[in-house]
Amino acid sequence: MLSLSKIIDPVNGDLAKAENSLKSVGEVQDNHLSELLSYALDIVGKRIRPALTLLTGKLYAYDLDCLLPMAAAVELLHTASLVHDDAIDKSTVRRGRPTINKLWGEDKAVLLGDYLFAKAGEFCASTGNLRGIKLFSQTLATMSIGELNQAFNAFNLEQTREHYFDRISKKTASLFVLATESGAILSQSPERSVAILREYGYNLGVAFQVVDDILDFIGTEEELGKPAGSDLAQGTLTLPAMLLLRYYPEDNPIKRFFQDRGDLEAKRRAVESIRNSPIVEECYDIAASYCARARQNLNLLPDNASRQALMDLTDYIVMRKK
Ligand code: IPE
Ligand code: IPE
Ligand code: MG
Ligand code: MG
Repeated sequence: MLSLSKIIDPVNGDLAKAENSLKSVGEVQDNHLSELLSYALDIVGKRIRPALTLLTGKLYAYDLDCLLPMAAAVELLHTASLVHDDAIDKSTVRRGRPTINKLWGEDKAVLLGDYLFAKAGEFCASTGNLRGIKLFSQTLATMSIGELNQAFNAFNLEQTREHYFDRISKKTASLFVLATESGAILSQSPERSVAILREYGYNLGVAFQVVDDILDFIGTEEELGKPAGSDLAQGTLTLPAMLLLRYYPEDNPIKRFFQDRGDLEAKRRAVESIRNSPIVEECYDIAASYCARARQNLNLLPDNASRQALMDLTDYIVMRKK
């Protein structure tokens, strides 16, 4: 399989420029804020979302004056959401290092997240594109609904697959849609292509979260750079857990753990049961089906290296180990 960096090669150089904009966010007078920002922006993640904005932008009129700030906005929005997500989850490790909430406390994490959201908005506004700005705001609202939905349903066994897909569409796929649709809008794509790229972002985003949820069961903290097994611990019922409940509706370790959160042996057995079962393959097949949907109409877009990269990303998303 191609590496992520190889896949997004058509925009690697410009991604580095967006990176510089991100780093500039850390240049503030206030010492405390400066320390928090340099920590939060120091270690980079995979940068998939800003790469999507640049790649989709490169299908038509590649205008870096607005695509670079938009790519920075998308990545900052993502980073802010992770800072909050870790505070909500009381998570201790992210991108291979202690989280902001672990080092500075949840209160600082909430406020830093707010600051990053605001800065993301500022980058987005600097494009001057009202449609993109509105989409940005709507996306933040949608992601909040998704995370709220997850919080309100913690340890709730009465959730269906429809609930799950609705939730991950909101908390994760919506941001992928922002990444691709904003790239399309800012590069003057025809409306038909905007719609195709929106669909692409949505399906890729759903697949991305399904794989993230699989990796939470089969990955290790070393590989992932964040704790494994944390979804069950948080009471988050993801697709693999839902399938285990469906196969063993009566005597199920997930049920036991959700009913008695002190029963860590039940939690361990739930993870083991999923790891060593065909459920993992079944979930990968579902992720792959979303990737196939993502690919479906790409051939209607201009045939260039960026389109190939979008195509290759659909394979990468399922094969990735982190
Ligand atoms: C993590 O996203 C949050 C999810 C939507 C699962 P990434 O896996 O893209 O995180 P980084 O940016 O590479 O750390
Ligand atoms: C994605 O979900 C988080 C956001 C959309 C903010 P997860 O909770 O699965 O993300 P990780 O696993 O902590 O990265
Ligand atoms: Mg989380
Ligand atoms: Mg996760």
